[in-house]
Amino acid sequence: MHDSTCTNPAIVLVGASRGLGLAMTAEFAKRGWDVVGTVRGTARTGLHDLADRLPEQITVQSADITDTGQLLALRERLASRRFDALFINAGTVNQNPNETIAEASPDEFVHVMVTNALAPMRAIEALAGLVTESGLIGAMSSGQGSVSNNTQGGRELYRGSKAALNMFMRSYAARHAGSPRPFLLMAPGWIRTELGGPHAPFTLAQTVPDIVNVIIDKRGRPGLEYLDRHGKAVAW
Ligand SMILES: NC(=O)c1ccc[n+]([C@@H]2O[C@H](COP(=O)([O-])OP(=O)(O)OC[C@H]3O[C@@H](n4cnc5c(N)ncnc54)[C@H](OP(=O)(O)O)[C@@H]3O)[C@@H](O)[C@H]2O)c1
Repeated sequence: MHDSTCTNPAIVLVGASRGLGLAMTAEFAKRGWDVVGTVRGTARTGLHDLADRLPEQITVQSADITDTGQLLALRERLASRRFDALFINAGTVNQNPNETIAEASPDEFVHVMVTNALAPMRAIEALAGLVTESGLIGAMSSGQGSVSNNTQGGRELYRGSKAALNMFMRSYAARHAGSPRPFLLMAPGWIRTELGGPHAPFTLAQTVPDIVNVIIDKRGRPGLEYLDRHGKAVAW
């Protein structure tokens, strides 16, 4: 636990039940960080297994990021602690990612946009006060959120949701101009997870150490950057 008797840096990682979030939790712990990872609901997840193995470093909390009441309750439960970073990893994709935007049902549109664009910003608003004044605030975007790199099309709703997230983070950073905080939008690359699918070229083991490097390196560099996992700026 990160308190006055302990000097480990600490991060809140939202959406850590599986995939990239779970692997990032393990990687941060390996680097000596304390991690509060969140899951949805009450079912046991890989994060619970990891926390059982590393109880000094990993704490499991629960919050659905689309439920503002649950985000505020999470803030209350963590109110006595201060963190060096907050990273919103949770995200989703529509059932048929290759449908065109006009083919997406309004329900799917709302679900993906709320989960990937509105909810991360609400999570940031709800939880930012838990982070030290110069602590990092980041969110998992995607290279597919780049408007200027979209020359090939495809995954239209998902792209739109991540582009919206990027825009909302830019607005948030503009509202906090002059703040000592680093803000980060991460484009991790195409990675084999449930969301990334079996044809993704990279494994978690090949990519997550780089993702964590970029988050750690970004500390101490105030302002917003949209970076790939090698630390290279992605065109907006
Ligand atoms: N994999 C890739 O190639 C890739 C590329 C670019 C960007 N990304 C982004 O990276 C992030 C993680 O993706 P992944 O590949 O690891 O996907 P994943 O394996 O499908 O994991 C998605 C994670 O998000 C959580 N989540 C979804 N909706 C949530 C909600 N409403 N509230 C709280 N948690 C929620 C899931 O929790 P549950 O277990 O409860 O469902 C799970 O922990 C996403 O933002 C994704 O868009 C992934």
